[in-house]
Amino acid sequence: MRKIALVNQKGGCGKTTTAINVASFLAGKGKKVLLIDLDPQGHAGLGLGAQGDQAEKTIYEVLLGEIPIREAIQTVAENLDVVLSDVILSAFEQVMAGGHEREYKLVQSLVDIEAEYDYLIIDSPPSVGLLTFNGLVAAEEVIIPVDASSFSLHGLGKLLDTIQIIDEKVDHRLSVKILATNIDRRTTFCREVVKSLRDRFSKNCFKTIINTCTKLREAASHGKAIAEYNTHCAGFRDYQDLTMEILKQEAAMKKKGFTIGSLLEAEGLLKSQVEREIVFKLEAPETAMVQIAGDFNEWVPESLHFTESQGRPLWHKTLSLRQGSYEYKYLVDDRWIPDPDNERTADDAYGGVNSVISL
Ligand SMILES: Nc1ncnc2c1ncn2[C@@H]1O[C@H](COP(=O)(O)OP(=O)(O)O)[C@@H](O)[C@H]1O
Ligand SMILES: [Mg+2]
Repeated sequence: MRKIALVNQKGGCGKTTTAINVASFLAGKGKKVLLIDLDPQGHAGLGLGAQGDQAEKTIYEVLLGEIPIREAIQTVAENLDVVLSDVILSAFEQVMAGGHEREYKLVQSLVDIEAEYDYLIIDSPPSVGLLTFNGLVAAEEVIIPVDASSFSLHGLGKLLDTIQIIDEKVDHRLSVKILATNIDRRTTFCREVVKSLRDRFSKNCFKTIINTCTKLREAASHGKAIAEYNTHCAGFRDYQDLTMEILKQEAAMKKKGFTIGSLLEAEGLLKSQVEREIVFKLEAPETAMVQIAGDFNEWVPESLHFTESQGRPLWHKTLSLRQGSYEYKYLVDDRWIPDPDNERTADDAYGGVNSVISL
């Protein structure tokens, strides 16, 4: 399975349009395609006419590990399946705060279905947060759509930052390509944009350029891919050309031989699936600022949540921990204290003790 993520922290640059139409053309070429929408706005599903209703299972439940991905897959056309997103997905980052392997939730969920698809297309939100990183960890290839308007100097800087973040985060595994989108060739500005992109990124730039085409916008608003809506427009030709260009790279990409299994193995994740949820609790007044730090979060304090339990002021936090032994401490306002409910301690380097938990 080839895994391609559409990424750019700028909204409106053509990520979703590209995801929808490349997925649709690939399916039209007989490839079995799965499109996963990681954007809480849910535009990818809407653009393909997928019927999302309240009861529908979405990528949110999948990322939380509540359901296998298979249960969230729906078929929208021949060879084309989608996993929809939902606005609740915007809570994912907060819900997962401090959770272990939180960038690996998507890749872990894919193991079951990897063999069933030729292509995985991942649409990302307009931010470089946890959802986008889940997409990047799962992907092997990244397409960064750049629309003419964002190609100010500021836009270029941000784009380069994004590429760098991606590279560092996933250890230079990704093949990154830039796609010029929404280009109006009649304007000198747009022609200059294309030239600069090619000068600057030569090999990392698709030959195909996506021209401005109002039919693309119309098609999306009708819940259709361009091939289903209008076959006599620039948008149709451009996305068809882009798909051909992507298909041509197939052999080269296969040689790299990444599979999710090998990736997971490399990350030592298969072993680590024995994670356990541990609830850390501390009684302290509501007015206090209570945090926890330890080996499991590189000693970077994380806030606990406050509740009242049977009239007692209680701070708590749930962390997913792998097997192993961890030292930790609470930080109450600016005072470090060991866990009063845990007798096991070890000397810290400062004449005090840390609490110790073993799983
Ligand atoms: N080549 C294009 N020509 C005209 N409109 C486009 C083109 N590409 C995208 N659009 C429109 O621009 C808007 C933003 O595109 P979209 O793909 O949703 O961007 P993103 O997913 O990056 O936020 C949408 O209304 C879309 O229909
Ligand atoms: Mg989008």
